[in-house]
Amino acid sequence: MKRAIISDIHANLEALQAVLAHIGTLNVDEIICLGDIIGYGPNPIECLDLVMDNCALTILGNHDQAAIFDPEGFNPVAIKAIFLHRELLESDRSSKGDRRWDFLGELPRRHDEGKYLFVHGSPRDPTNEYVFPEHVYEKELLAHLISRFEQYCFQGHTHIPGVFLETGKFVTPKEADYFFRLGQEKCMINVGSVGQPRDEDPRSCFVVLDTEENTLEYHRVEYDNEATREKIYALHGLENMLGDRLISGR
Ligand SMILES: [Fe+2]
Repeated sequence: MKRAIISDIHANLEALQAVLAHIGTLNVDEIICLGDIIGYGPNPIECLDLVMDNCALTILGNHDQAAIFDPEGFNPVAIKAIFLHRELLESDRSSKGDRRWDFLGELPRRHDEGKYLFVHGSPRDPTNEYVFPEHVYEKELLAHLISRFEQYCFQGHTHIPGVFLETGKFVTPKEADYFFRLGQEKCMINVGSVGQPRDEDPRSCFVVLDTEENTLEYHRVEYDNEATREKIYALHGLENMLGDRLISGR
């Protein structure tokens, strides 16, 4: 079975459309979304609708959670965007508008299939904990995180793609020619971000997991990030820097 795993769309419609179009050419059986559909970007409603229509499984992200409940632990730029998104979602009083709230309210924090665990943040705190590449130097923490799942844990949240190996290494997709063979070793796999990459590559990022071949392939997709930046500039509730960072990929 081939599964495309996407994350951190952040209301970036141009990026999500480009990624879905690319996935359409890859013969995948299903799409899994690891959360943060909204937050930061100009098109929360359109992105929610696309995820609801296209993804077999979606996990709750911290920005999705913040739109439903009260945003805690966010910087002022992120909070402003969350309130704008809440306003946009509330302004649609149709039954479709209700369905979006129901969808967000019912998202699971984790999905455990035994061999595969899917979260937004980390295997310990599925919604909020960041696991950054430098965490491989914290041996005890890494060992603890790895002990929290059976074999492979898929996550997003940092917007930095790569594979954390049990042996204490972080391998970037570029280093591995975007291709990994999953062995016996346990690992955490950060799938990167569709709508706001932060690894200095502005292209959208996602992975395809082939469960029969036991392989993992990272994909990078170009999209019209200038168009998204223009939309962000035009929206009062979004700071310009949210548009600028899409161009630099930081
Ligand atoms: Fe995110």
